[in-house]
Amino acid sequence: MPVKDFRKAESRDDLRPIYQVEQKKWNAVAHDKMAGTQNIEPDFHTYARKSTTLPGISEFLGDLTGKRVLEVGCGLGRSTSMLAKSGAEVFAFDISSVSVCATGKRAENNGVDDRVRLFVAAGEEIPLKDGSFDVIFGKGVLHHINARMGAPELHRLLKPGGKAAFSEPLGMNPVLDFVRDYVPYPHKTPRGADIPLTYKDINDWGKPFSRIECCELQFLSMIERGFGFGKRVMWLRRLDNFLLARIPFLRRFCRYAVIMMEK
Ligand SMILES: C[S@@+](CC[C@H](N)C(=O)[O-])C[C@H]1O[C@@H](n2cnc3c(N)ncnc32)[C@H](O)[C@@H]1O
Repeated sequence: MPVKDFRKAESRDDLRPIYQVEQKKWNAVAHDKMAGTQNIEPDFHTYARKSTTLPGISEFLGDLTGKRVLEVGCGLGRSTSMLAKSGAEVFAFDISSVSVCATGKRAENNGVDDRVRLFVAAGEEIPLKDGSFDVIFGKGVLHHINARMGAPELHRLLKPGGKAAFSEPLGMNPVLDFVRDYVPYPHKTPRGADIPLTYKDINDWGKPFSRIECCELQFLSMIERGFGFGKRVMWLRRLDNFLLARIPFLRRFCRYAVIMMEK
């Protein structure tokens, strides 16, 4: 019986049917969005400090000049170009070959292709040497990867003291899960094999690391996306800060989390 939940896979062989689903979906998405690779991107810190889904990551990673950075699941390569613009030497990979191609085109259009190296791979087995990276970054990707196989890979690839930062969707809010599965909203991509993270998943990712911090984001303010406002609604943000600080139990119902780990 093929495994449907990638978290239950025992081996890379169990993951093959899931890889096929993901490759088909993300190759098609990348194909449709190839024209966007002509856009000129800002540097990583400028973007991350304004982004609603990356709070704290710019400060945690610090100056990227001359750093070796691995990006996991680069997708269409926006972050890849931004990281390179911030002075990093970036290695980026994705399981979708068309996405990797889009990332290459974007890097060229942004004049940073000399600082970007690309390859097609799965996060459960990354063909690079131990201790190669100062930083590992990923956006919306851990919830596609088996943590039991992927977490030791990330840990192995980081130098001692290296840092890893991710921004990921959370999957502990039944209303949000229903919306993700059944309700159309602006800029929605169809569901693939991904499973938004629970606290257990986050804990599994953190196991090999010496330190892990998780910061949940967007409780009520998640409706900003649903209604397609396209910008922050400040009173909702303030209400979120108020509620999440006073009632920590609500944090599990947030839409996103930033996860920061150190080797
Ligand atoms: C939600 S998209 C995020 C892409 C990009 N990081 C971004 O922020 O736009 C998830 C990406 O993970 C990739 N992916 C899915 N499963 C993967 C795996 N096992 N290993 C590596 N990449 C994977 C997909 O091809 C897709 O590009």
